[in-house]
Amino acid sequence: MTKILRTISELRAWRNALPAGSRLGLVPTMGALHVGHISLMDLARTHCDTVIVSIFVNPLQFGANEDLARYPRPLEKDISMLEAAGVDALFLPEHTEVYLADNSTYVDEEAVSLPLCGALRPGHFRGVATVVLKLFNLTQPHFAFFGQKDAQQCAVIERMVRDLNVPVDIVRGAIIREEDGLAMSSRNVYLQAIPPRRCASPLPEPFCGLRGL
Ligand code: PAF
Repeated sequence: MTKILRTISELRAWRNALPAGSRLGLVPTMGALHVGHISLMDLARTHCDTVIVSIFVNPLQFGANEDLARYPRPLEKDISMLEAAGVDALFLPEHTEVYLADNSTYVDEEAVSLPLCGALRPGHFRGVATVVLKLFNLTQPHFAFFGQKDAQQCAVIERMVRDLNVPVDIVRGAIIREEDGLAMSSRNVYLQAIPPRRCASPLPEPFCGLRGL
């Protein structure tokens, strides 16, 4: 049974009750779980005695015109998947539990985060690094697991952990793909199939039948 922890005090009490010397693994997510997430939980189980998953749609990492409001939030399905995966605990905080109204402290990584997605999504990696450091401080895991699909995110988090001496080992999980080769992502629900003959995309098969809305 996956224990659901909604507040920081519930999380801390649960964390403090873990047996001394047991290794804790954290899989941070924004929910809308898929097989890629489950593979990270399975990987965590091979490294750790206890596995905790967080689900928090972090507003700080969404730009003004991005999909925060419509980001998929199938919570009941997510919880069933966590149960089936044998996850020990779910940290499921409200926004106000994570960010105080006058929060004024952020994490800015200033090299790895700047090109690529960082250039296209200003503030995105600041939001990611800030919430991930908070999740590390709250859960105090020995290991944390991130998908290689978000390679730049992995690099930013690894640099933050190195530069700020955060006592956690980062483990990258392999990209998990759909049968047609598309990397699994919570945002794939935004894609729609387009008959190949109407597709003017330069992308090779099997991607040319898929376009973001
Ligand atoms: O990869 C994600 O789902 C998010 O960026 C993360 C790491 C959970 C931080 O909100």
